[in-house]
Amino acid sequence: MSVKEITVSELDTKKFIQEKAGEISSIVGDGIAINALSGGVDSSAVTMLGHQALGERLKTYFIDNGIMRDGEPEQIASIFKNLGVHVEIVPAQDEFFAALKGITDPEEKREAITQTFYKEVFGNLVKKSGAKYLLQGTILTDVDETVAGIKRQHNVFEQLGIDPQEAFGYKIIEPLVQLRKDGVRKIAEALGLPASIYNRMPFPGPALSARVIGEATREKIALVRKATSIVEEELNSSRAFQYMAILHNDRVTGMRDNKREFGQQIEIRCWDSIDARKARPTHMDFAALEKLAGRIVAEVPGVVSVTYNITAKPPSTMEAV
Ligand code: XMP
Repeated sequence: MSVKEITVSELDTKKFIQEKAGEISSIVGDGIAINALSGGVDSSAVTMLGHQALGERLKTYFIDNGIMRDGEPEQIASIFKNLGVHVEIVPAQDEFFAALKGITDPEEKREAITQTFYKEVFGNLVKKSGAKYLLQGTILTDVDETVAGIKRQHNVFEQLGIDPQEAFGYKIIEPLVQLRKDGVRKIAEALGLPASIYNRMPFPGPALSARVIGEATREKIALVRKATSIVEEELNSSRAFQYMAILHNDRVTGMRDNKREFGQQIEIRCWDSIDARKARPTHMDFAALEKLAGRIVAEVPGVVSVTYNITAKPPSTMEAV
């Protein structure tokens, strides 16, 4: 099935919202749907659109998979509470870390997360709630990259010939699939979401596990989470498309307190991009980079080396996994 793109210049936000809310209502009828909110612009737009269409008949969950950023589940639930949308936080750390155990291959990691999300966690929520539909914020770039075999995005099924009804026991509705990120931001703004959401930096479905090279253990996730908080604090006022910290798998020799320390390496990536299809490393001020490195080695135990990526996408991709 090919998807017809709606470019940002063609997008009439009011008409789009009306049409998609109407489609959601007519598909779900008087039944129940569920959706998972991560706080990203895509899932946030879908949450508001779904609530416009279905009201209380849309149950919104935040899956606390243990690989989100510091304080993220509570922050997002509180933003939506202010918008009148109840979000239930579902603790699922154990399921995700069990699924990630021993896996080092990037695509196998992505697949483990996909299966845990869709089969285990959503499978149970569907049973519990009686829903037949899952509403989700897949966008055209997710489909393109998955179909091209570049990265298996966690949320793409039908375009890969997978029938979610058969595989997981529920149908998936994807109201944003004709849009790219810039279009979704406009829709999110038109739906009344705050700027902290419609301008929110993208964050991948596999979350911090996409930023740990090799096995994503609880300890490594905790380490990259600390580095991520520092990078986000320091680069918050930059106008870059996306910035991140990546934890490498191999260690390097460093020194601390005049002793040898065989420590961890963090790579910083900061991207300029319009729609994530292509990206260039931001020309960062060197003093800003040095400040970042200084904070990371001082505040994240075990890190002795910080590097900055200077490769464009392609051939790089934006995330490391
Ligand atoms: P890559 O690493 O493929 O990333 O160059 C392009 C953009 O997509 C985000 N990304 C994802 N988003 N599910 C998502 O919803 C995923 O599985 C996923 N993987 C990468 C990434 O953060 C970047 O903005």
